[in-house]
Amino acid sequence: MNPKLSSPLFTFTWYNLGVDATTLRRAIARTRLAPVAAFPKRLGRVARHDARVIRTSARWLFTSREHHNYTYELTKLSRQHLTWFVSVVCDTPVKQVRGYVEEIESDDTLRGHIERATAGAARRGLADKQVRYARRVGWYAIVRATRPSHVVETGVDKGLGSCVLAAALLRNAADGHPGRLTSLDINPEAGYLARTAPWSDVVDLVIGDSIAAITALDRPVDLFLHDSDHSRAHEKREFEAVEPKLAPGAMLLTDNVTHTDVLAAHAERTGRRFLAYRETPRDHWYPGDGIGVAW
Ligand SMILES: C[S@@+](CC[C@H](N)C(=O)[O-])C[C@H]1O[C@@H](n2cnc3c(N)ncnc32)[C@H](O)[C@@H]1O
Repeated sequence: MNPKLSSPLFTFTWYNLGVDATTLRRAIARTRLAPVAAFPKRLGRVARHDARVIRTSARWLFTSREHHNYTYELTKLSRQHLTWFVSVVCDTPVKQVRGYVEEIESDDTLRGHIERATAGAARRGLADKQVRYARRVGWYAIVRATRPSHVVETGVDKGLGSCVLAAALLRNAADGHPGRLTSLDINPEAGYLARTAPWSDVVDLVIGDSIAAITALDRPVDLFLHDSDHSRAHEKREFEAVEPKLAPGAMLLTDNVTHTDVLAAHAERTGRRFLAYRETPRDHWYPGDGIGVAW
């Protein structure tokens, strides 16, 4: 006998009527009561999700100083996807790409430099002490895998990406494949992290509007990265301006791929392949950016 039936305080259950929960749920799902019955479960799901975002956001408000160009680590899975993404785009064995990712993350000389330069910077009140590269480890691995002679990055900010790209170029040079980075920013205060040797030895920091600076480039570009003014119009103008400057087989990257289809459209117009990676930040409220590649 069902124990509940023998209890003095008899509790009604559908089981008592010979209806199991799954059968009942399926029956309700076919009625007009379905949205009402599902409401508590839906509410619980979204509340748990939003509570997590609010907890993460509150912690970030009091522990981070960043007000734009946020830095964070990637989730383990997102890092793995990035490694495979670079492997496919650069036609390089995934094991080798994984080695590049580990190489930049274990570069304590670079990490120490960024920590010290950040601590001594005039704008340190708006920067975090922790060094977190996020998708920039993908930029590093692409430079290591493709060994470009000339990389152009538009948009420098503090110079975190410039340092990462310069570190890859320095390793390439040690392997017998030297290269230089031209970093363009409209803000004269940009790039303070990339003004220290040995990274500065391979970086040409150009202050000015990126379109004018791209037009003035006098060396072929093997790898181009858009990360400046993220408006659709400016991104499009940059890719159009750099097109006549590209070396044969050059690769184009955009940091804006989660917001526009500018590079995808440019790839289609110019007969290139295109692929996008979307990063997932770990323990951060920001949904993340990504890497778009045309090659
Ligand atoms: C997202 S930040 C760059 C981030 C950097 N690449 C990194 O890895 O951290 C964007 C930068 O683009 C610069 N910028 C905005 N408009 C620009 C323009 N028209 N030409 C050149 N730089 C521009 C801003 O001054 C800002 O420093």
